[in-house]
Amino acid sequence: MKVTVDQTRCQGHTLCAMKAPDMFELDDVDGHSSPVSPDVPADQVGKVIAAVRSCPEQAISVEDA
Ligand code: F3S
Repeated sequence: MKVTVDQTRCQGHTLCAMKAPDMFELDDVDGHSSPVSPDVPADQVGKVIAAVRSCPEQAISVEDA
């Protein structure tokens, strides 16, 4: 699975980083989220799906890879 964060949608709500702290890092300046890696390890899939659902801006996308 691959994950991306749309920087034009992200408003820095931080829920993604709470749901999947090992997968998302927040920018120190604007608080926008970026994936630590685009490739989602198998043991992180559930947390990343939870992050997708948690984001109020629908900024996070996943696709099968
Ligand atoms: Fe941004 Fe959504 Fe996370 S707005 S900081 S991707 S919860």
